[in-house]
Amino acid sequence: MGEVRKLIEDPTFPNGWPVKETHIDHQLKWKDGVSKEYGVHGSAVGVDFDICIADGICITVCPVNVFDRMELPGEQEKMDKGITNDSGKAPLATWKADPARENDCIFCRACEIQCPVQAIKITEP
Ligand code: F3S
Ligand code: F3S
Ligand code: ZN
Repeated sequence: MGEVRKLIEDPTFPNGWPVKETHIDHQLKWKDGVSKEYGVHGSAVGVDFDICIADGICITVCPVNVFDRMELPGEQEKMDKGITNDSGKAPLATWKADPARENDCIFCRACEIQCPVQAIKITEP
């Protein structure tokens, strides 16, 4: 098993993470030496796709519907073979929780608290 990371414990996110591109109306951040495949979507609501395993509790608990499921078909092979990501666990489904409407976040932090692999870091502006 590789290194286990938790975005919530990374004090360099979001300000120390360079912006790689824009996705919808949020940033995709990528830090060399840390990011491996997908990077982090969102800034105020940062979801590290290299840690997310598609648990989905974040989508269930968010009171203002910040997240969309973003399909990443390449995850199927990891599911089939039990290949772990930076959470130390294999993905449960072929999507990641994309903070498509992070500007609607009211900072209740339910997602951040409940994500079982600490893939989410909330940063109030
Ligand atoms: Fe929703 Fe998480 Fe913000 S649950 S309101 S995106 S802190
Ligand atoms: Fe992913 Fe954690 Fe949500 S694993 S789907 S960010 S609860
Ligand atoms: Zn995105």
